[in-house]
Amino acid sequence: MKPVAIKDDIFWIGVNDTTTRLFEGLWLIEDEGITYNSYLIKDEKNALIDLCKDSTGDLLMENIKTCIDPKDLDYLVINHMEPDHSGAILQLLEVNPNITLLGSKKTGEMLIDFFDIHQNFQAVQDGETLSLGKHTLRFISTPMVHWPETIMTFEEKEGILFSCDGFGGYGKVSQGIFDDEQSDLDYFIQESLRYYANIVCAFSKPVLKAAQKLAALPIKMVAPSHGLIWRKDPQKILDLYMQWSGYTDGNALKEVCLVYASMYGNSTQVLPAIQSELEAAGVNYHSFDINQIHISYILPALWSSAGIIVCAPTYEGGLFPGMEFLLEMAEKKRIYDRKAIYVGSYGWGGGAMRFINKQCEALKWDLLGEAEFKGKAEPADETKIKALTRKLAQNL
Ligand SMILES: Cc1cc2nc3c(=O)[nH]c(=O)nc-3n(C[C@H](O)[C@H](O)[C@H](O)COP(=O)(O)O)c2cc1C
Ligand SMILES: [Fe+2]
Ligand SMILES: [Fe+2]
Repeated sequence: MKPVAIKDDIFWIGVNDTTTRLFEGLWLIEDEGITYNSYLIKDEKNALIDLCKDSTGDLLMENIKTCIDPKDLDYLVINHMEPDHSGAILQLLEVNPNITLLGSKKTGEMLIDFFDIHQNFQAVQDGETLSLGKHTLRFISTPMVHWPETIMTFEEKEGILFSCDGFGGYGKVSQGIFDDEQSDLDYFIQESLRYYANIVCAFSKPVLKAAQKLAALPIKMVAPSHGLIWRKDPQKILDLYMQWSGYTDGNALKEVCLVYASMYGNSTQVLPAIQSELEAAGVNYHSFDINQIHISYILPALWSSAGIIVCAPTYEGGLFPGMEFLLEMAEKKRIYDRKAIYVGSYGWGGGAMRFINKQCEALKWDLLGEAEFKGKAEPADETKIKALTRKLAQNL
């Protein structure tokens, strides 16, 4: 995509990444893609805000050149050092070795660690402002959203918040970069939640803290570094992030996330019984065969749901490996304080429960009960599983 003027003298110069299969080497974006949104402010002093992954550096440099001679750039604001935004920095420094790099103190240290860049850096303080001429930038420290060095940059004349990863989402843009240009805004909202649950949710407390700071700003546009720019309804994405970051401390939605896996169908034989009980109880639920659906799509439902049902067999003295991985990822993502039940088949001595008990403790999940059965489930097992499901539904 070509550069887009988002306000007088302020340009989106970002790129669509359509070739990365796993974002951060983990999160599937094969179909969705992702944008790296960079911005240019032309003024008496010219400033770039954030860059892109090194693999898309050529596209970014082309976009810059259609707006300005890169040698005329005075500043690069580095809101965040993750290489999806800083990766093109050496390419930029090659054409403009004199540009001043701005970021938090920690960013200065990371420039050395990641790129061996020792020159040109100037640290900015929380609340500090920088006049470019007509435009003034205010730097806001937002540590741990989701790295320790992270800042956001507020452009005061137009009220634009350059929020970097905060308020971002997956999805390449083809219909335009703005929220009001989309025929399917819900798709981008879903992809923002997926991004949130994959990248940001473990840092929900820092997100809430950042939001309290941002509440004092007259924000008219939210311009993150991934996904849409919210100009028609900036409050929408701010509110959604607040809502999602609130799904902690037992405050998730009164819904159920049912995750299952099976080798030979014994464990999953009881799924219809579970599902019919959830339906009878009028509980909204999301179910995933974890062998079919990539974890990046499961985490949003796990993050949003107060109730979790784990259905999977014993495997070599533990829980089925893919399920162990999912529940360990849940711990990493701090999906704490849920109500849970476990259901699964085993062949002889069992073992899944050892992992379930240990992991529920680590996750601070209230395990309301379990139903294990040898081989296939008997009618008595089904009766027990139905009762457990009802108990979960009543305790959400
Ligand atoms: C590779 C493999 C490892 C297993 N390890 C154990 C085990 O350590 N302990 C146990 O009680 N059963 C074990 N089983 C038996 C399964 O738990 C049992 O067959 C169960 O019914 C499988 O459920 P599923 O049909 O949902 O996959 C193992 C089965 C397989 C295929
Ligand atoms: Fe990041
Ligand atoms: Fe990012």
